[in-house]
Amino acid sequence: MHGFRVAVFLLLIHMAMAAPGSWQLLMNDSGIASMHTVVLHTGTVLFLDRTNVGPSHIRLADGNCRNSTSEMVSPYDCFAHSVEFTPGPNTVRPLTIQTDTWCSSGAVVADGTLVQTGGDFDGSNKIRYFKPCASGANCDWAEDSTTTLQTRRWYATNQVLADGSILVVGGQNVFTYEFVPGRPAGQVALPFLQETHKVFGDDQNLYPFLHLLPSGNVFIFARRDSILLDPNSGNILRKYPSIEGEPRNYPTQGSSVMLPLDNADGFTKATILVCGGANDNAYSDPKTQYPASQTCGLLEATAADPQWTMLNMPFPRVMSDMILLPNGRVLLINGAQKGSAGWEFASDPALNPVIYNPTDRSFEVQAGTYIPRMYHSTAVLLPSAQILVAGSNTHQFYTFKEPYPTELRVEAFLPDYLHSSFDSQRPTVKSAPSQIAYGSTFVMTVTVPAPKGGFQLRLASTPWATHSFSQGQRQLALAIGMVTITDVDEYSITATAPPHAAVAPAGYYMLFAVQNDVPGFASWVQVIWNQPN
Ligand SMILES: *[C@@H]1O[C@H](CO)[C@@H](O)[C@H](O)[C@H]1NC(C)=O
Ligand SMILES: *[C@@H]1O[C@H](CO)[C@@H](O)[C@H](O)[C@H]1NC(C)=O
Repeated sequence: MHGFRVAVFLLLIHMAMAAPGSWQLLMNDSGIASMHTVVLHTGTVLFLDRTNVGPSHIRLADGNCRNSTSEMVSPYDCFAHSVEFTPGPNTVRPLTIQTDTWCSSGAVVADGTLVQTGGDFDGSNKIRYFKPCASGANCDWAEDSTTTLQTRRWYATNQVLADGSILVVGGQNVFTYEFVPGRPAGQVALPFLQETHKVFGDDQNLYPFLHLLPSGNVFIFARRDSILLDPNSGNILRKYPSIEGEPRNYPTQGSSVMLPLDNADGFTKATILVCGGANDNAYSDPKTQYPASQTCGLLEATAADPQWTMLNMPFPRVMSDMILLPNGRVLLINGAQKGSAGWEFASDPALNPVIYNPTDRSFEVQAGTYIPRMYHSTAVLLPSAQILVAGSNTHQFYTFKEPYPTELRVEAFLPDYLHSSFDSQRPTVKSAPSQIAYGSTFVMTVTVPAPKGGFQLRLASTPWATHSFSQGQRQLALAIGMVTITDVDEYSITATAPPHAAVAPAGYYMLFAVQNDVPGFASWVQVIWNQPN
């Protein structure tokens, strides 16, 4: 009886204290279920699905229909499979892709161009470019007509390197890596991918997690193992201990981030966080609906003797996206609590995001959505500091049947820092540079009506989000020098740009001013090699 009363009491407390954060439905029908989502430096968001999915919900512009004998489902296709989404008005513009981009990889390079690589069938070795343009201009996908990948890559992962080139790793039954633009070495064997490949009869190492460490070397995580690759010599510099618990890569799809790099340690320390995953048998035996992994592992990849520290999440998660929030915390969003990636292979949606706080290693459950985001769903950080959520299609074609219909709705998750009660603490950018050179000092001016704590300036990259992993995601806490009051409520902040390109590859970043953990709207800044003229 006593226990029952306590339980009722706790339930009432829980109901009275609403979980933090809120949701907004931005659009009912974006036309496509976005399997790959990327924020562009023009402030729009690129959505990309695959070509052989049959009719989508949005037509191509007149004259743009695709007539391709290599396309197996719709040889003559007047439907779009990629769109450009504009936050604010929440509108979409159809884009044209020529060959199959299914489960592909991508990266944004120094001039802001999105480079997409591989896919399946006729698109499996293609390289495609999307060069963002000003609103009103009709920029579109362009397929490279002269150069292809060295081999077909389906479920590969990309990472921009310090020299600005793209490292492309793996793919189904492909145990190599290569570079875009290509290097004389061509494709290089990576036995690590073979070793982590067939352990339980499934490929559990697809879409490996890649993180560019501040040394310029690349941390590669596949299944439960990880190595450090020198991309220039090809040497494997380290083999890390195996993580405990379930395997973590597709189809046992967990996720991973490198925690924000920090000026406080001279940007030398890199800590990897891997969360979620699925039972070894979840993909081969989907009927059982095994509970997903409830653990995360933390590994300081730059330490002398790195060991995994295991943490427990409030509930299990598979197929959850991980996003570095502008206040340095980590959001886990989307996914399910049972099963694995793959068509119809998961259940029990993880409707509540969770925020991990690296300072005290705690997890806080957030307000839930009512829209399940299962296989093939995505999430990205917007300049507004909101999280855009798009996609979810656990079917071969667009199929609008319960319980998990193909999802065309676009939502935003608003972390608690966007609550109006923090508006007086929110920095508004008055002036900021559009370019900063490595190691240079720059000044940013913000207004804050009622500042409470110190300022932080953080750079956030624009990753390629697909299959729960944001390829190329990184965040930097910049060094702040003098802060001076220049007018009523106005502060001029002197800061130092990243020291070199292994800490932050050249390109466009969202520059967030953060005050007392409350971020303002980001301004766009291009990190460049030499001082602008
Ligand atoms: C979505 O559709 C519902 C039902 O028709 C409607 O009430 C709502 O206003 C729509 N929302 C948006 C963002 O269009
Ligand atoms: C598609 O191309 C084929 C030739 O490859 C042509 O015979 C056919 O008429 C075209 N279809 C349409 C609708 O344009």
